[in-house]
Amino acid sequence: SRSISLNISECFPVELPSDAITPTHCCPSKPSFSKFLDFKDFASPSAKLRVRKPFHLLDEEDIAKFEKGIALMKALPDDDPRSFIQQAKVHCAYCNGAYHLSHPFQDTKFDIHRSWFFFPFHRWYIYFFERILGNLIGDPNFALPFWSWDSIEGMQMPTYFTNLNSSLYHKLRHQKHLPPHVVDLNYASNSNYVPSHKQVSYNLATMYKQMVLASTTELFMGSPFRLGDNPRPGPGSVEAAPHNTVHTWVGGAETPHHEDMGTFYTAARDPIFYGHHSNLDRMWAIWKTLGEGRRDYSDQDWLDSEFFFYDENANFVRVKVRDCIDTKNLGYVYQDVDLAWLRTPP
Ligand code: C2O
Repeated sequence: SRSISLNISECFPVELPSDAITPTHCCPSKPSFSKFLDFKDFASPSAKLRVRKPFHLLDEEDIAKFEKGIALMKALPDDDPRSFIQQAKVHCAYCNGAYHLSHPFQDTKFDIHRSWFFFPFHRWYIYFFERILGNLIGDPNFALPFWSWDSIEGMQMPTYFTNLNSSLYHKLRHQKHLPPHVVDLNYASNSNYVPSHKQVSYNLATMYKQMVLASTTELFMGSPFRLGDNPRPGPGSVEAAPHNTVHTWVGGAETPHHEDMGTFYTAARDPIFYGHHSNLDRMWAIWKTLGEGRRDYSDQDWLDSEFFFYDENANFVRVKVRDCIDTKNLGYVYQDVDLAWLRTPP
């Protein structure tokens, strides 16, 4: 088997750009690598499915819970693996080469992006983030909201994130892209601004192209990456855009790598990261319903690959790709939202 298992007993200093704006150590502060649980041994499908909703349809109670959960996470001691800063470091460690693959012929610095691991890794990552939030606010049914940038109502940064008094506020963002500015799902930093109504229809066309025209597993999910391969063999359609593009669009205009959202080592320090990834995760679920050829990989090297996370009880847990391919197995579903892009071929 050439499935991936990271050698996380050793966490190396990450590789950052030489002009990184902040010194960053991404290794977990309390390693407990000798002891871990296997997810499948304790996960029991919950009786009630949690329903993840879009920000534009949250009621006051929903948003209050999310804000409170983030505030409580930020208030945990920095070295608690459930704290907001430790959660952000998980992303940095999996992206910027802190972990190496154990392979006899290769000492490969690992990056979770630009391969068939993009969707399953981030699904697991925000799953544990959601469980931690639910635990901190005492609501086991808490569901992580999603920023539905693919729907007309969701095509601007949700205003909750720009409220100065909110735990969702984050300073380091592109100040010209705050609401009501319409997101550009095909953004590049040299993009021209176009009138809002035009941008909306460009965005719908982008969604159609990335979702509907990605008619094979590899086109959507990204390329295979097995033990012994070089990392980043090639991203799937939606990973390239809107995933990467929205990261860059949100990130600061003045920082060298569009920190925080625009680069991996800092992206998850902005609470909007989790709403962005909730919607990306939703795209994976929707894509599989779009017709013939839209199926998950059935390759054992993918299904057997594994990652490690801390759960809501600060236990260290090993998870496999195979256990996340159906969201119901993780106890949640997405609320249905109109898919205007489905009717909008370019
Ligand atoms: Cu791991 Cu949106 O990046």
